[in-house]
This record gives sequence, structure tokens and C-alpha cells, in this order.
Amino acid sequence: MRFYKVTDYKEMSRKAANIISAQIILKPDCVLGLATGSTPIGIYQQLIEWYKKGDLDFHEVRTVNLDEYKGISSDNPQSYRYFMNQNLFNHINIAQEHTFLPDGMAKDSEAECTRFNDVIQLLGGVDLQLLGLGHNGHIAFNEPDEAFGKGTHCVALTESTIDANSRLFREGELVPSHAYTMGIRSIMLAKKILLVVSGKDKAEILYKAMTGPIIPTIPASILQMHPDITVVTDADAAALLDDKLFAQTDK
Ligand code: F6R
Repeated sequence: MRFYKVTDYKEMSRKAANIISAQIILKPDCVLGLATGSTPIGIYQQLIEWYKKGDLDFHEVRTVNLDEYKGISSDNPQSYRYFMNQNLFNHINIAQEHTFLPDGMAKDSEAECTRFNDVIQLLGGVDLQLLGLGHNGHIAFNEPDEAFGKGTHCVALTESTIDANSRLFREGELVPSHAYTMGIRSIMLAKKILLVVSGKDKAEILYKAMTGPIIPTIPASILQMHPDITVVTDADAAALLDDKLFAQTDK
């Protein structure tokens, strides 16, 4: 595991965007695994800025996203497809048909999970998977459970996740209760993982996930087993981690 502690959210975004850029430069036709949520927004803004400067080219890149709400269509502003279009895809030179997310409106959930697993396989697997960390230790929508989830599956979201997500919905709007998500197995099969964590409120779960026992009640703890993972965290989220862990500390 490689840890980078940087001062704040802006620096975390820059460092993570640097790592993603390096991947694209080294392998222009790479497959990027992407995430939604508030943490990656700054990373996407930085990538857009570098693209606009002419430093990055996405035309051969393919992307797969970790998850999508079930029962929400792609033109719904709450869908993860909409989020990705708004926050990244619409601003760079990537064709929509090179970007893959589970289809929230699929009629047959099981068939949709199989289709999405097949997409990842046909693309040759994920070269670099970007991950955020949930307050309860979830990664993608793999919630605390008795066992680690495997391939893409449809999950019932926990109350804490629904609560955390509800901030993104307008009052009175129904917050989805189910979602499609890549499983732990799909995530662990990515060749490289980039975990980004920001904020005091994530310090305790980051500490537990990175240094505690590997248990399905803290899904992110499995990342300790990945052979090529980089963790980029701001100082607030890193507050409980031992300084010895860090390859580089920007004070
Ligand atoms: C989103 C996702 C989620 C988030 C996690 C953290 O695609 O997979 O697991 O990464 O909920 O969300 P934020 O970044 O909003 O704290």
C-alpha cells in the first residue's frame, strides 16, 4: 500500500488527478473505473482543466462506473450517469459509448448484473479503479455484511447510506433504496486501486479500514489485500493514521 497525505481537499484532488493522468499517458487506451459522490468532484475538475490545456487526451479511454441507483433513469439529475456526464464526460473528449454504467432502468436486475460483469470482462478488466470511502466503510455500494460481495449485484442500501445520500436530493424527493454495484471481487480484480478520502468525519473509518482486521462488516478493509493500492488522503482524514505509513507528507 502506498499512502500520500496532503494538506487539504484541493491537494488531494490534484494528487489523485496526477495519478489518473499518469495512467492515461502510459496507456492511452486504458480502462478507468470511476466513482461518484462528493470526494471525486475536485479530481474530475482537475482532469477537465488539464484536458482543456491540451495535456490529456481521453479519446481512447474507456470508463466503467462502480454503481448506479436502481429505478432512476439516466436523464434524472440524481442518476450517476447524469452525475458523470455533468462532472466529467461532457467536458472531455470521451465518446458516450466508451462510458459504461449499470442501467438503473433495466427490467431484469439479474440480467443487468450479468451484462455489466460481461462489459468489464470484454474491456479486459479495469486498469485503475478510483474509490471513495463511505462512513460505514462501504466501497461502491458494498455495505457492511456477513460476507464480501462478489460480482455486480443489486443491493438494498443501509439507512446510513440513504441518509448520507439524501443531502443530494431535494425535499420530498424519494431517495432510492436499491442500487446496482460492482462487487468486492470486481473491485479487487482491478489492476490498480486509487482510494481517495477527505475530511475529519472519515478519519475513524479510514483508520479502521486500513489498519484493523479484514472483515466484511468493514468492506473497505479488504483493500489491505490488494497488491497495488494507492491511498490519497487529506490531513483531516489521516488524523488517526501513523505518520510512518506515509510515503510522502506535504506539510
Ligand atoms: C460512489 C460510491 C460510494 C462513495 C462513498 C463516499 O460511486 O461508490 O461508495 O464513494 O459513498 O461518498 P462521498 O465521496 O460522497 O463521501
